[in-house]
Amino acid sequence: MLLKTNEEIAIIKKGAHILSQLHKELLPHIQPGITTAQLDKIAETYIKDHHATPSFKGYQGYPATLCTSINEEVIHGIPSNYQLKDGDIISIDCGVYYQGYHSDAATTHPVGNVTKELLNLLSQTKAALYHGIEQATTQNTLGDIGHAIQQHITQHNYHIIEEYGGHGIGQELHEEPHIPNYGEKRQGKKLKNGMVIAIEPLVSLGNGRITQATDGWTVLTQDKKSAAHFEHTIAIINDQPQLLTSHL
Ligand code: MF3
Ligand code: CO
Repeated sequence: MLLKTNEEIAIIKKGAHILSQLHKELLPHIQPGITTAQLDKIAETYIKDHHATPSFKGYQGYPATLCTSINEEVIHGIPSNYQLKDGDIISIDCGVYYQGYHSDAATTHPVGNVTKELLNLLSQTKAALYHGIEQATTQNTLGDIGHAIQQHITQHNYHIIEEYGGHGIGQELHEEPHIPNYGEKRQGKKLKNGMVIAIEPLVSLGNGRITQATDGWTVLTQDKKSAAHFEHTIAIINDQPQLLTSHL
């Protein structure tokens, strides 16, 4: 696990700011009729205009700037000519590479009018992310983060998708440690000042089992129930979590 200096964290914060602004910029475009490829184009242009590059494009051959995962798509959905429609939910996940460092953030949006059931899924997944972030203090362990997320999600009768989780981030998009969205209090690695991590709960309305689409990237729920995804990049500084990305 690589601990970052304050100077490195300051650089990551600048990249994370570009990424947060991009998420805000996309918000008014998330309307029925727009294609996910159009959203991707807006994002790529925005990042390049801000002297940064997309972290995902080219990562293990990934073809786009955004991951756009709709309804039963959990993560790693590839932008396409699919047009958003009223009632969809869409996870927009993006990474920015700026002055040698990555940041990573995702949020799931409703498109037009969405059922109450789905709106609850979104708000509770986001709440679970913040409960996880709260635990990122030097008094705690990775297990405390996972436990807080899991506790919140299972309380609401949703299911964690256990195959994916958060990660260290810095000069590489994915660094040690892996951060499960489940766990036991006081278990796992102790958290330290200088850690920069992405925390990202993935949650389904259904049983949480997943399958891989034939495109080699998109991850889907087996039971076709919708899933939500929220992610922030944070640093641990002065024993406390500090948000580097922000959204909405
Ligand atoms: N936030 C996602 C993750 O950490 C995005 C990765 S997309 C990829 O897994 F294309 F880079 F793989
Ligand atoms: Co991530």
